[in-house]
Amino acid sequence: MSLHGLRSVTIGVPNVEETAAYYAEFGLTPDGDGWLSTADAGRQLRIRPAPTRRLLELRVGADDADDLARAAASLSRIGVPAQLREASLEATEPVTGVRVGLDVAPRTRQEHVPATSYNGPGRIDRPGGRAPAFARSSRVRPRKLGHAVLGSTDHRATTAFFVDGLGFKVSDRIKDVGAFLRCSADHHNVLVLAAPVSFLHHTSWQVDDVDEVGRGAHAMLENRPERHVWGLGRHYAGSNFFWYLKDPAGNFSEYYSDMDCIVDDQLWTPEDLEGARGLFAWGPPPPPSFLNPDDLAAMMTGAHSAR
Ligand SMILES: [Fe+2]
Repeated sequence: MSLHGLRSVTIGVPNVEETAAYYAEFGLTPDGDGWLSTADAGRQLRIRPAPTRRLLELRVGADDADDLARAAASLSRIGVPAQLREASLEATEPVTGVRVGLDVAPRTRQEHVPATSYNGPGRIDRPGGRAPAFARSSRVRPRKLGHAVLGSTDHRATTAFFVDGLGFKVSDRIKDVGAFLRCSADHHNVLVLAAPVSFLHHTSWQVDDVDEVGRGAHAMLENRPERHVWGLGRHYAGSNFFWYLKDPAGNFSEYYSDMDCIVDDQLWTPEDLEGARGLFAWGPPPPPSFLNPDDLAAMMTGAHSAR
């Protein structure tokens, strides 16, 4: 059959407790042993100790053992060693050092959530009432992990690992900078970006609608304005609304809603995005620290001294 989704990410950070508390506040549920869970897909984030922040592991769901065997053969063709087991395949992306695993696992089934009622010209879908978002009093809880974004010192090689090796598909490219890759119907589950050092740029978490993006970010920023990175805006690639915040280790975490879905590969035409379009469609201008996080120089120094 095929790959069907991003199952989990494991992040290494120097400050495990503080970072785990941040993601609990972000709306994930602590689930023991360093794990945090989403509302619809269970354990999707694991936080482990590491000297500097980094993505340690990314796991992807596959339908059956044939998918694993196919990926093992493809990885071997591009010269990447992999360990094939009965229900999993393990490999290490050679440029970033991120462990990537495929697991034979059931697909995540999300219940149908009715569309939020918004009034519009000639369309009173919400007669006689305030916006339903104002009746939401509980904390925003991300539904599922949407994507992870990897900075790579060789974005073409990292992209080849995911596409030619594992079987991800290219949804769009940012000219000479990176590629939006999917292993599900979502427009992207992995984005590979050219960077002077390999690092985790952000993880992104699905919420119900744009009101939840706003409500989630607003709650995180109350008394903690320094967590703000970039938002509210809408990306062109994937169409999703976004708001980026920063965790205590320096990783960005994104609330998103309304991502493009590609249910038939024939009906989607990948584009080579140039200029601002690769970044966003509308919103405030991205701060310089979005593209070049404040700790990038320190990570580069660390990367050099480690060799
Ligand atoms: Fe994102």
